[in-house]
Amino acid sequence: DRAAELYEMVRACQLCALAATRTRAVPGEGPLDAEVMCIGEAPGVNEDKQGRPFVGAAGQFLGELLAAAGLTREQVYICNVLKCRPPGNRNPEPEEVACCEPFLRRQVELVAPRIVLVMGRFAAQSLLRTDASIASLRGRVHRYAAGEREVPVVVTYHPAYLLRNLGDKAKAWADLCLARRVLQDAIAEDGPSRGPETRTDGP
Ligand code: URA
Repeated sequence: DRAAELYEMVRACQLCALAATRTRAVPGEGPLDAEVMCIGEAPGVNEDKQGRPFVGAAGQFLGELLAAAGLTREQVYICNVLKCRPPGNRNPEPEEVACCEPFLRRQVELVAPRIVLVMGRFAAQSLLRTDASIASLRGRVHRYAAGEREVPVVVTYHPAYLLRNLGDKAKAWADLCLARRVLQDAIAEDGPSRGPETRTDGP
Protein backbone atom coordinates (compact mmCIF):
# COMPACT_ATOMS: atom_id res chain seq x y z
CA ASP A 1 0.00 0.00 0.00
CA ARG A 2 0.94 3.64 -0.20
CA ALA A 3 2.19 3.92 3.36
CA ALA A 4 4.43 0.85 3.01
CA GLU A 5 5.80 2.35 -0.19
CA LEU A 6 6.52 5.63 1.56
CA TYR A 7 8.20 3.89 4.51
CA GLU A 8 10.39 1.94 2.12
CA MET A 9 11.44 5.16 0.39
CA VAL A 10 12.31 6.71 3.76
CA ARG A 11 14.35 3.67 4.80
CA ALA A 12 16.23 3.69 1.51
CA CYS A 13 16.68 7.48 1.40
CA GLN A 14 20.18 8.80 0.69
CA LEU A 15 19.20 12.40 -0.03
CA CYS A 16 21.17 14.01 2.80
CA ALA A 17 24.25 13.31 4.90
CA LEU A 18 22.21 11.84 7.78
CA ALA A 19 21.85 8.64 5.74
CA ALA A 20 25.51 7.91 6.46
CA THR A 21 25.25 8.27 10.25
CA ARG A 22 21.80 6.83 11.01
CA THR A 23 21.35 3.34 12.44
CA ARG A 24 17.75 3.17 11.28
CA ALA A 25 15.50 5.69 9.60
CA VAL A 26 12.33 6.47 11.54
CA PRO A 27 9.44 7.00 9.11
CA GLY A 28 6.69 7.24 11.73
CA GLU A 29 3.89 5.01 12.94
CA GLY A 30 0.22 4.86 13.71
CA PRO A 31 -3.10 4.20 12.07
CA LEU A 32 -3.49 5.72 8.60
CA ASP A 33 -7.00 6.79 9.55
CA ALA A 34 -5.84 8.58 12.71
CA GLU A 35 -7.71 11.77 13.48
CA VAL A 36 -4.76 13.24 15.37
CA MET A 37 -1.19 13.47 14.11
CA CYS A 38 1.70 14.45 16.37
CA ILE A 39 4.87 15.74 14.74
CA GLY A 40 8.16 16.09 16.60
CA GLU A 41 11.62 17.22 15.61
CA ALA A 42 13.87 14.29 14.80
CA PRO A 43 14.73 10.83 16.11
CA GLY A 44 16.94 10.66 19.19
CA VAL A 45 19.32 7.90 20.15
CA ASN A 46 16.61 5.40 21.17
CA GLU A 47 14.50 6.08 18.10
CA ASP A 48 17.55 5.69 15.87
CA LYS A 49 18.22 2.27 17.43
CA GLN A 50 14.64 1.01 17.20
CA GLY A 51 13.42 2.69 14.03
CA ARG A 52 10.33 3.93 15.86
CA PRO A 53 9.38 7.50 16.87
CA PHE A 54 9.14 8.71 20.47
CA VAL A 55 10.22 5.54 22.27
CA GLY A 56 12.40 7.23 24.93
CA ALA A 57 11.53 9.39 27.93
CA ALA A 58 9.96 12.07 25.74
CA GLY A 59 7.78 9.40 24.15
CA GLN A 60 6.68 8.13 27.54
CA PHE A 61 5.69 11.64 28.49
CA LEU A 62 3.92 12.19 25.17
CA GLY A 63 1.85 9.09 25.96
CA GLU A 64 0.89 10.61 29.31
CA LEU A 65 -0.10 13.93 27.72
CA LEU A 66 -2.24 12.13 25.15
CA ALA A 67 -3.86 10.02 27.87
CA ALA A 68 -4.77 13.17 29.78
CA ALA A 69 -6.54 14.36 26.63
CA GLY A 70 -8.44 11.07 26.37
CA LEU A 71 -6.30 9.61 23.60
CA THR A 72 -4.14 6.53 23.48
CA ARG A 73 -0.83 6.50 21.68
CA GLU A 74 -2.19 3.75 19.42
CA GLN A 75 -4.94 6.07 18.15
CA VAL A 76 -2.52 8.76 17.10
CA TYR A 77 -0.17 8.95 14.13
CA ILE A 78 3.31 9.94 15.33
CA CYS A 79 6.26 11.09 13.25
CA ASN A 80 8.99 13.70 13.03
CA VAL A 81 10.03 16.47 10.66
CA LEU A 82 13.34 14.65 10.13
CA LYS A 83 13.31 10.90 9.60
CA CYS A 84 16.97 10.36 10.57
CA ARG A 85 18.85 11.26 13.72
CA PRO A 86 21.20 14.21 13.58
CA PRO A 87 24.48 13.05 15.19
CA GLY A 88 24.70 14.06 18.85
CA ASN A 89 21.13 15.40 18.59
CA ARG A 90 22.38 18.62 17.03
CA ASN A 91 19.78 20.85 15.43
CA PRO A 92 18.68 19.82 11.95
CA GLU A 93 20.24 21.72 9.06
CA PRO A 94 17.94 23.55 6.63
CA GLU A 95 18.96 21.29 3.75
CA GLU A 96 18.13 18.21 5.82
CA VAL A 97 14.67 19.62 6.48
CA ALA A 98 14.27 20.41 2.80
CA CYS A 99 15.23 16.86 1.79
CA CYS A 100 12.77 15.34 4.28
CA GLU A 101 9.87 17.68 3.66
CA PRO A 102 8.25 15.76 0.78
CA PHE A 103 8.03 12.68 3.03
CA LEU A 104 6.28 14.62 5.77
CA ARG A 105 3.88 16.32 3.39
CA ARG A 106 3.01 12.97 1.83
CA GLN A 107 2.41 11.52 5.28
CA VAL A 108 0.02 14.31 6.20
CA GLU A 109 -1.71 13.81 2.87
CA LEU A 110 -2.05 10.03 3.40
CA VAL A 111 -3.27 10.22 6.98
CA ALA A 112 -5.34 13.36 6.37
CA PRO A 113 -5.74 13.94 10.11
CA ARG A 114 -8.35 16.33 11.44
CA ILE A 115 -5.70 18.02 13.56
CA VAL A 116 -1.90 18.16 13.61
CA LEU A 117 -0.18 18.82 16.90
CA VAL A 118 3.32 20.04 16.18
CA MET A 119 5.66 19.79 19.14
CA GLY A 120 8.60 22.06 19.80
CA ARG A 121 10.12 25.19 18.32
CA PHE A 122 12.10 23.46 15.64
CA ALA A 123 9.24 21.31 14.34
CA ALA A 124 6.77 24.20 14.45
CA GLN A 125 9.11 26.58 12.64
CA SER A 126 9.94 23.99 9.99
CA LEU A 127 6.35 22.95 9.38
CA LEU A 128 4.94 26.47 9.30
CA ARG A 129 7.98 28.02 7.61
CA THR A 130 8.41 30.77 10.14
CA ASP A 131 10.98 32.14 12.58
CA ALA A 132 8.31 33.00 15.13
CA SER A 133 8.65 31.82 18.72
CA ILE A 134 6.58 29.03 20.24
CA ALA A 135 5.02 31.60 22.52
CA SER A 136 3.71 33.58 19.57
CA LEU A 137 2.59 30.50 17.61
CA ARG A 138 0.64 28.87 20.45
CA GLY A 139 -3.03 29.50 21.11
CA ARG A 140 -4.28 29.76 17.54
CA VAL A 141 -4.93 27.43 14.65
CA HIS A 142 -2.51 27.39 11.71
CA ARG A 143 -2.90 25.59 8.38
CA TYR A 144 -0.64 23.15 6.58
CA ALA A 145 -1.27 22.32 2.94
CA ALA A 146 -0.93 18.65 2.02
CA GLY A 147 -2.32 17.48 -1.28
CA GLU A 148 -5.78 18.93 -1.69
CA ARG A 149 -6.20 19.53 2.00
CA GLU A 150 -5.44 22.30 4.42
CA VAL A 151 -4.96 20.60 7.74
CA PRO A 152 -5.43 22.58 10.98
CA VAL A 153 -2.25 22.78 13.06
CA VAL A 154 -1.84 23.53 16.75
CA VAL A 155 1.61 24.32 18.15
CA THR A 156 2.80 23.16 21.55
CA TYR A 157 5.98 22.55 23.49
CA HIS A 158 8.14 19.50 22.87
CA PRO A 159 7.61 16.77 25.49
CA ALA A 160 11.36 16.65 26.15
CA TYR A 161 11.27 20.39 26.90
CA LEU A 162 8.27 19.90 29.18
CA LEU A 163 10.14 17.22 31.12
CA ARG A 164 12.81 19.82 31.86
CA ASN A 165 10.33 22.68 32.40
CA LEU A 166 7.39 21.22 34.25
CA GLY A 167 6.14 24.75 34.94
CA ASP A 168 5.02 24.97 31.31
CA LYS A 169 2.87 21.85 31.57
CA ALA A 170 -0.28 23.90 32.10
CA LYS A 171 0.35 25.68 28.80
CA ALA A 172 0.77 22.34 27.03
CA TRP A 173 -2.50 21.24 28.57
CA ALA A 174 -4.19 24.37 27.18
CA ASP A 175 -2.73 23.53 23.74
CA LEU A 176 -4.10 19.99 23.93
CA CYS A 177 -7.52 21.38 24.87
CA LEU A 178 -7.39 23.68 21.83
CA ALA A 179 -6.45 20.71 19.62
CA ARG A 180 -9.29 18.66 21.07
CA ARG A 181 -11.72 21.51 20.44
CA VAL A 182 -10.64 21.76 16.79
CA LEU A 183 -11.06 17.99 16.48
CA GLN A 184 -14.54 18.05 18.00
CA ASP A 185 -15.61 20.98 15.81
CA ALA A 186 -14.41 19.11 12.72
CA ILE A 187 -16.35 16.00 13.74
CA ALA A 188 -19.45 18.09 14.39
CA GLU A 189 -19.11 19.74 10.99
CA ASP A 190 -18.11 16.80 8.78
CA GLY A 191 -19.58 13.87 10.69
CA PRO A 192 -17.68 11.01 12.28
CA SER A 193 -16.37 9.61 9.00
CA ARG A 194 -14.66 11.69 6.37
CA GLY A 195 -15.98 9.66 3.46
CA PRO A 196 -14.42 7.08 1.21
CA GLU A 197 -12.46 9.50 -0.97
CA THR A 198 -9.93 10.07 1.81
CA ARG A 199 -9.99 6.54 3.14
CA THR A 200 -9.35 4.35 0.14
CA ASP A 201 -5.99 3.08 -0.87
CA GLY A 202 -7.23 2.42 -4.38
CA PRO A 203 -5.92 3.90 -7.60
N1 URA B 1 12.18 13.70 20.13
C1 URA B 1 11.61 13.92 18.92
O1 URA B 1 11.42 15.04 18.48
N2 URA B 1 11.24 12.86 18.22
C2 URA B 1 11.39 11.60 18.64
O2 URA B 1 10.99 10.69 17.92
C3 URA B 1 11.97 11.41 19.91
C4 URA B 1 12.36 12.46 20.63
